[in-house]
Amino acid sequence: MQDRFTPTPQIPSDEISRIGVFDSGVGGLTVLQEIYRQLPHESVLYFGDTARVPYGTRSAAEIIKFTRQTLDWMVSQRVKMAIVACNTSSALALDTVRDEYDLPILGVVLPGARAAARQGQRIGVIATPATVASNAYLTAIGEANPHAEVWQVACPEFVPAIENNRLAEPSTLAIAKEYLQPLLARSIDTLVYGCTHYPHLEPILRKFVPESISFVNPAIAVVTAAAKELNLLGIHSRRPAQPTTFVVSGDPAQFAQLATQWLPARPVVEQIVLPTVPVA
Ligand code: DGL
Repeated sequence: MQDRFTPTPQIPSDEISRIGVFDSGVGGLTVLQEIYRQLPHESVLYFGDTARVPYGTRSAAEIIKFTRQTLDWMVSQRVKMAIVACNTSSALALDTVRDEYDLPILGVVLPGARAAARQGQRIGVIATPATVASNAYLTAIGEANPHAEVWQVACPEFVPAIENNRLAEPSTLAIAKEYLQPLLARSIDTLVYGCTHYPHLEPILRKFVPESISFVNPAIAVVTAAAKELNLLGIHSRRPAQPTTFVVSGDPAQFAQLATQWLPARPVVEQIVLPTVPVA
């Protein structure tokens, strides 16, 4: 037995720590898929706030409160970095809360906007109502490329359709055509997924969006940015990845069932109740 006064050997934090990834639901899985692809040695703690999805029709105060609660919890789980894998939280909450935490926190909007600005001149952004109202993409793309033209469309029905597993229903295709029509009418050359759920719609969108229009998935760009940051800070993993831990605030079985279609295997999912924090 170990002497109780023997100090525990110091394990460098990068050896044991995970990246925290969170979203309102299954949207952040598009970021997780990119982590598996680009950062196969990193371990991930994934949180889906499924008891409170969707975020995109909520007020800024609520989104800030939920983001804080999740980040507080992630810090208590000793993650080494947090990726806000939700455009709505990235657009509405990140600037307000980032300085409250002593760890690197990456959002999806800025890397996504920069990737779009590099790629196109006539850019369409589809996003939640809250993200569109924030103009976060409009501003960030404009800063990266002042000559780009940008149009945005709010798509409130998409997240409920994805979370309720209605992707294969004809109504989802009909809604998608309706939402994208104003952007296609502008002859866009680039379409940005301004919500991490939306890459799950790609098979549907590709049924009617012309091949000439390229899609920008900000999940790719945020994980590239995360890889650089991990290296820069010297906290990248030097060990094989541990299996991803999945935690949700809603029904774990429902999440597992839905998420399986985008993951290599059916995930084991735990449920938690986040500690409450006062509304700022
Ligand atoms: N995946 C979130 C985003 O990127 C969806 C927000 C929602 O729950 O409405 O905005």
